[in-house]
Amino acid sequence: MSRVAWIGLGNIGKALCENLARYGPISTPVTAWNRTHSAAEELAARVENIDAVASLTDAVNSSDIICVCLSDDAAVDAVFSSIIGQASVAGKLFVDLSTIHPDTASAQAERLQRLGAEYVGSPIFGGVPLAKARQVTLVLAGSSHAISKFRPFTTGVTCGQLICLSDKPCANAFMLKLLGNFIRFSAIATLAEADAFSEVVGLPPEALEQFVRVVLQGAAVGQLQGLRSGEYHKADKPSVPIALWNKESSHLVDIASKSGARLDVLSTVAGQGDRVKESYGPAASLLTIFGLIREQCGLPFEA
Ligand SMILES: NC(=O)c1ccc[n+]([C@@H]2O[C@H](COP(=O)([O-])OP(=O)(O)OC[C@H]3O[C@@H](n4cnc5c(N)ncnc54)[C@H](OP(=O)(O)O)[C@@H]3O)[C@@H](O)[C@H]2O)c1
Repeated sequence: MSRVAWIGLGNIGKALCENLARYGPISTPVTAWNRTHSAAEELAARVENIDAVASLTDAVNSSDIICVCLSDDAAVDAVFSSIIGQASVAGKLFVDLSTIHPDTASAQAERLQRLGAEYVGSPIFGGVPLAKARQVTLVLAGSSHAISKFRPFTTGVTCGQLICLSDKPCANAFMLKLLGNFIRFSAIATLAEADAFSEVVGLPPEALEQFVRVVLQGAAVGQLQGLRSGEYHKADKPSVPIALWNKESSHLVDIASKSGARLDVLSTVAGQGDRVKESYGPAASLLTIFGLIREQCGLPFEA
């Protein structure tokens, strides 16, 4: 059975690592490493089958499959540089669950493959509550051989659903992650604008609510409820900070500009995300977009 390491115990990494240790097909404890070691120690103290290690090199050297879940491109680049400089990687599989630029993923895959290691891109759709409930969706891209090694640790263990892009470049998984969240954020911004404008023109709130429930259905129902719940001005710690969208939109804007494509909706929603960060800081809720749109419609910030 494979020995597994988990690198990066932030908000979502911690939840996935815990589920891997609780429900994964493992015969030895998951080796957990985090830059701030106390997070690994706290997790190991709370959850069985997790060994906290202080050395990244030890975590990699003692494992066959190494899952990486880090904040951004700079963190991923720094951690892989350190691993490649100090650990033995030949024959190992690296699974990257971070949300990063597709070019960053391709660069890591190339440097690892040159050393005889494999790399699978595996970004996550869904937030921390879904991760805790093992209901996130993972997108897997890489060689089918590498994906088959990681599959036993996916559905029912760390995730509810898989989008599997077998034998496709790892960059495809990260591109889909960016495009998927672009669709989701644009939908939220559109609902926010429709709801604010309904109020301006005197359409009763239940009219839009019924349209969303009866005609749109699905995710839109929860998105409208989320906006109207006032989470963006009530919660001390928002579930999804705007910084996550800022990172993703800047990657998409970069890819669009390099490919010469003009994407008007992307320009609008990227700008809205930037304005939330400028006015309320990177930790503000992603749903703060609703407050900004309400103000642009001449309504109070708070719904
Ligand atoms: N949170 C979500 O709802 C969500 C949903 C889908 C996808 N994602 C993606 O999943 C990834 C992790 O998200 P998260 O919410 O767990 O992030 P987070 O809470 O901000 O945690 C970031 C992690 O990266 C580590 N890190 C940052 N810079 C580092 C560096 N230079 N060297 C080594 N480690 C470094 C942090 O270590 P320290 O503890 O030492 O700071 C921490 O373990 C991100 O790419 C995010 O976009 C998140």
